[in-house]
Amino acid sequence: MEKDELIKGIERLRREKNAVILSHYYQTDDIQSIADFTGDSLALSQKAAKTDADIIVFAGVYFMAETAKILAPTKKVIIPDENAGCSLADSCKKEDFEKFINDNPGHTVITYVNTTADIKALSHISCTSSNAKQIIESLPSDEKIIFGPDRNLGNYIRSLTGRDMLIWNGSCHVHEQFSLEAIMKIMEENKGAKLIAHPECEMPVRIAADFIGSTSELLNYVKSDKAEKFVIATEPGILYKMKLACPDKLLIPAPPKDSTCGCSECNFMKLITLEKIYNSLKFEYPEILLPDDIIEKAAIPIKRMLDISEKLGL
Ligand code: 13P
Ligand code: SF4
Repeated sequence: MEKDELIKGIERLRREKNAVILSHYYQTDDIQSIADFTGDSLALSQKAAKTDADIIVFAGVYFMAETAKILAPTKKVIIPDENAGCSLADSCKKEDFEKFINDNPGHTVITYVNTTADIKALSHISCTSSNAKQIIESLPSDEKIIFGPDRNLGNYIRSLTGRDMLIWNGSCHVHEQFSLEAIMKIMEENKGAKLIAHPECEMPVRIAADFIGSTSELLNYVKSDKAEKFVIATEPGILYKMKLACPDKLLIPAPPKDSTCGCSECNFMKLITLEKIYNSLKFEYPEILLPDDIIEKAAIPIKRMLDISEKLGL
């Protein structure tokens, strides 16, 4: 089917079936342009919790669609490609994390939403890169914390808060591949440019960065900062909304050390296409299905996160 036909088909099916299409900022431009809502992982979970649609089509990765299902268990949640995983979520297996918790009793377990439902079911509070600092600061200052799975986000938050944190050794293959050397060369060639980075980046990139934040925070920074040039160390899908908001600013995706596509795209995010969205809406498949007890247990840390975020106006 041609692109125009696909878009018309998606619009028709979405109307007929009372469906909503939620998209992460790392999706392709054409998906972000047809989505009902595009946001970061915190905003997407807030949307999923409140939607009155009957079907949620999640244009993102598996853990995000699972989070939507956990927050809206009576809705049909569809992921257009069930192979859209996440290397960070994969770096934290249930049996290993359970042992880590049991080996370190007396800790509050805080996990990033980039985890499977099984890991959330073992956690006390969830967080995203938009609220991790505030979630940790909401706990008493002497609280011992287990944080997982991203070691870069964990180390960054520990450096900001000085809290007692045991950090799981997981990471994201996209954010760990930026080349500081190549970034510095671009900065040299573009005087006055600011380097902005996602907290999943490694420490050398974070230290060199003028600003560190979640995808939505990076977008807001580009909108509000006076600089005219930015080097952006996160998945380049975020450039779509940045370009729409700031067409006159120069936005340069940070280069990777090495990658097969020569860019820093998340191969999992990019598995989702307009055609797969159309088919998944038409056949209402693949659907996210989770056992009731996992939904019940995993909902507790996510709802705690949403409550704390709401109280803090995040
Ligand atoms: P955000 O929380 O900024 O949306 O990031 C999610 C993610 O997967 C980053 O790689
Ligand atoms: Fe997971 Fe990294 Fe892709 Fe984000 S960019 S979804 S953390 S693999």
